[in-house]
Amino acid sequence: MLDMILLCLIIFQIHQKSLNRVEKIINKKVIFEKGDLRDIDVLKNLFTKYKFDSVIHFAGLKAVGESVSNPLKYYDNNVNGTLKLLEVISLFGCKKIVFSSSATVYDEVDAANYIPLSEQNKTGKTTNPYGTSKYMIERILEDLYVSDNSFQIAILRYFNPVGAHESGTIGEDPNGIPNNLMPFIAQTAVGKREFLSVFGGDYDTHDGTGVRDYIHVVDLAIAHIKAIEYLNKSATKPLVVNIGTGKGYSVLDMVKSFSKASGVEIPYKISQRRAGDIAKCYAKPSFAKEILGWEAKKTLEDMCVDSWRWQKENPFGYKQTDC
Ligand code: UD1
Repeated sequence: MLDMILLCLIIFQIHQKSLNRVEKIINKKVIFEKGDLRDIDVLKNLFTKYKFDSVIHFAGLKAVGESVSNPLKYYDNNVNGTLKLLEVISLFGCKKIVFSSSATVYDEVDAANYIPLSEQNKTGKTTNPYGTSKYMIERILEDLYVSDNSFQIAILRYFNPVGAHESGTIGEDPNGIPNNLMPFIAQTAVGKREFLSVFGGDYDTHDGTGVRDYIHVVDLAIAHIKAIEYLNKSATKPLVVNIGTGKGYSVLDMVKSFSKASGVEIPYKISQRRAGDIAKCYAKPSFAKEILGWEAKKTLEDMCVDSWRWQKENPFGYKQTDC
């Protein structure tokens, strides 16, 4: 059997350039097959062509606002895509899977009242279809394990992934105006956006702005390797684990830290709260350390320095120009 992992990515958002740059970083060829996860024949062909040890399932749409206006697209892509993948995994007997879940699966009342969030907090009453799609997939995976406990499943609940690879060659390249804070700050620093709108300055936090648990993407990537290693040696019920730093930073903390990292003043204006936002959200990360031997190593400064390097060296993302 090849030592091979199937990485399911949002195919239509992959830039060929990013794959070329990954190859350069790892000094290895990356096998890339383009296909739609919802197409069962594509998957069957893939599993016939290769022998996989494990599957890391990242594929999913993730724009919260879009999920509210177009929920069917989210349920079709995220949930239906996962069902097809699981069907083929079962068929071909490759039953080791790591799934990218999200802190948004936590019950909104719990998330507002019990901080830091531990894996024992309630889930399910999510605030948007994106979060619900992640919650549904968690339930599907758990039901699947009940039906067949030869499945080895790890569910990673990401907090707020930010940052870029330290080489500055791969990073986040959102389509259009960024929804998330870090890419918006980075684009403001590089001069693509006039100012940052800070959504709400009257939250019950140390400076009135929303607090989140930002985690460096490289730490996040390492957590997946740890999860695979864990599954390789333990046959247990699905592992559900928070992947966060346990530290909460406000929007203004982020602005300050990014200004320091970039040497650029970030203009901002306090505006209305954004619908669906909560004051604070950060993880209790101790279970990840206990069970996976993983903890976040990168600091907020690392996240800002690496994001800035990526943004500065690639002002148009993977494109040559902004048109
Ligand atoms: C959202 C999703 C989460 C997803 C994450 C990264 C929810 C509830 N959660 O998290 O599932 O994993 O994106 O894709 O939607 N902010 C501003 N101005 C901006 C943008 C953001 O002030 O222009 C503030 C927000 O109000 C919030 C913080 O920055 O307080 C972080 O926002 P964002 O980066 O969008 O992440 P979340 O909403 O926490």
